Amino acid sequence: MKVAGRVEFLTKSETQEINDRAQELKRKGKDLVDLGAGEPRFSEPETARSAGKEAIKDGYTGYTEVGGNHNLKGAIMKRYERIFGVDTSNLAVISTVGAKSALFEITQLLYEKGDEVILPKPYWVSYSAQVRLAGGKPVYAKGEPENHYLPTAGDIESKITPATRGILINSPANPSGGVYNEKQSRDIVDLAREHELFLVGDECYDGFVYEKDRFWTLASSDYEGVMVVGSTSKNFAMTGWRLGYILGRTRYINELENIQSHFTSSPPAISQKAGEAAFRDELTLSRNLREEFKLKREFLAGELSELPGINCSPPPGSFYLLPDVREALTDLGYENDEDGKLARFFLEEAGVVTVPGSAFGCPGHLRLAYLPDKVRLEEAIERIEKTVRNSG
Ligand SMILES: Cc1ncc(COP(=O)(O)O)c(C=O)c1O
Repeated sequence: MKVAGRVEFLTKSETQEINDRAQELKRKGKDLVDLGAGEPRFSEPETARSAGKEAIKDGYTGYTEVGGNHNLKGAIMKRYERIFGVDTSNLAVISTVGAKSALFEITQLLYEKGDEVILPKPYWVSYSAQVRLAGGKPVYAKGEPENHYLPTAGDIESKITPATRGILINSPANPSGGVYNEKQSRDIVDLAREHELFLVGDECYDGFVYEKDRFWTLASSDYEGVMVVGSTSKNFAMTGWRLGYILGRTRYINELENIQSHFTSSPPAISQKAGEAAFRDELTLSRNLREEFKLKREFLAGELSELPGINCSPPPGSFYLLPDVREALTDLGYENDEDGKLARFFLEEAGVVTVPGSAFGCPGHLRLAYLPDKVRLEEAIERIEKTVRNSG
């Protein structure tokens, strides 16, 4: 029987195929260094874990208010006041089942058939799928390598047409690691205001910024069309707790709560308690982690750039590198956009998992997550180096 035409475009991605093959090799006992998955390896904060356990012990396991309980919402607001100095008086918040469902709900709220939505390229894979599922049309704005591929206000402006309804930006970015500075972000807010467009900021990686004063949250802006999406998945390594949120003006947050009431209902009660504890304890948590990530970022980018045909400058945020491997591809006898074949080659021959840049609309690149510990990163470099040199 035929399913809805709406989902016909959803196919298995190249990323998924490499992932499946990596799982198969692991099952067969092959030792792989996994630089593919974007899932932090550290544990969630102990305070969050205990709060989750307490919630179960206390029987705090039922439905809660659709948008999350009052204390969690308060802790999220406080986070923005304390860490980013945001005046939250004009903002409301809804907690969601991860950032993914937050972004999904936003596309359902804002877009309909024929609406164009400007997305960054390279992009995180779900943006375009979600826009299309809402009936909208993704339009890509591509940035320059010097800006770690983040599209500037100028790049975005050139894509605006009478059908444009919204802009999505992602900073710190997956897969490029780029981070907008305050001026760049303000320019995009001004552009959205001038053209009366919604501006959605996916800021899930806002704890991973390695250059002082680099990041400026869109929550600081006074433009009413702004919505900011955050998550506990990356900052607190709470991927499986499924807790994210959206900050925005009350009237939009109320509408999002209506959507959520027919979609997921509230995020799990237990996760809300754990998330609240994580947000309250955040300042002390992230500092050590950030230092560790900063060192790993410099190490891996430096070592990769030493390899023949690979160019990699360390980006200011997230935990990904997106090296340009076009020269390496041609040296190895591939076309310079066959990054999928190179990822496959590294997987089979070097036992190192990477993600082809094509999966993010950036052919000729690979995405590497510097999440394993330093020893494993060293091992990954040694293995890649040996494989590249043996085939050169
Ligand atoms: C840029 C970006 N946004 C959103 C998400 C979704 O995160 P969550 O686990 O909160 O749904 C991810 C996860 O990889 C991501 O990389």
